[in-house]
Amino acid sequence: MSAEEAVTQAEPSRHAGVLRFYELAKRAEWQVRDLPWGELPPVPEGKGSPERQARRRDVWRSVIMQQLQADILACEMSAQLLNTAPDPEAKLYYTTMVQDESRHTEAWLKLIAQVGGEGERDPHLDRLGHMFLEADTLEEKVFLMQVFFERLIIPRFRLIARSSRGTILEDICNRLAVDDGIHHGAGMAYERVLLEGASQRVKDTLIEAANRMLPEFAAHALWRPKAREMIGHLMEAKDRERLKTELDHGVRLANSLGLDVSEVQLPY
Ligand SMILES: [Fe+2]
Ligand SMILES: [Fe+2]
Repeated sequence: MSAEEAVTQAEPSRHAGVLRFYELAKRAEWQVRDLPWGELPPVPEGKGSPERQARRRDVWRSVIMQQLQADILACEMSAQLLNTAPDPEAKLYYTTMVQDESRHTEAWLKLIAQVGGEGERDPHLDRLGHMFLEADTLEEKVFLMQVFFERLIIPRFRLIARSSRGTILEDICNRLAVDDGIHHGAGMAYERVLLEGASQRVKDTLIEAANRMLPEFAAHALWRPKAREMIGHLMEAKDRERLKTELDHGVRLANSLGLDVSEVQLPY
């Protein structure tokens, strides 16, 4: 009997959702060496004067830096989930998430080396990371990272992919959108299990956590490093519009977990 069969047979229904995402994650696994290194340009190649090209490269570098920073934090968060989750099925699943986040980091590190190395850190991302790592309960951690963050980040990958056709950056973003879809789905499934017997007090702490996180997420979504300040201004109205749609979606997700979201304060 495989380890998987053992846990499935021990409790067939309660953790079926989480185990399904474990299977999915194993099937979706890829390797950094499979990326088209050397065949495609790392990021879109700029036109015009050398200065203009350098400026454009700096913009892409700052986009990659933000994702690299997010994935390094995600390594720490997923390792914490693996260590904290008491259920063997969830632990099994989290082994795949730790590997995914580590692989994402590997891909970003290689990519950023090709466009001039690391750049400015997004302070809001660091704060989001601390909020997660210092959250008191497993319910809160799964909620903040997998229910919210992993889901809210997916449209961003699609956006970056759309503006970087025919590059390694596009390829990575497409792969990460799939992986983070699995991370989110697994989190929804596990949060449902965790909330089955949860007290009202625990559910209230989730709403409080959402209220702490959402303004920081909004600041992160709208944050622009120096390299992107100019484009940042041009895009701000569109960014705010997009953010509103994403946050509304986050609230619907919380609602679908049976949480009373009437106390959630949206930062717009
Ligand atoms: Fe990731
Ligand atoms: Fe992820």
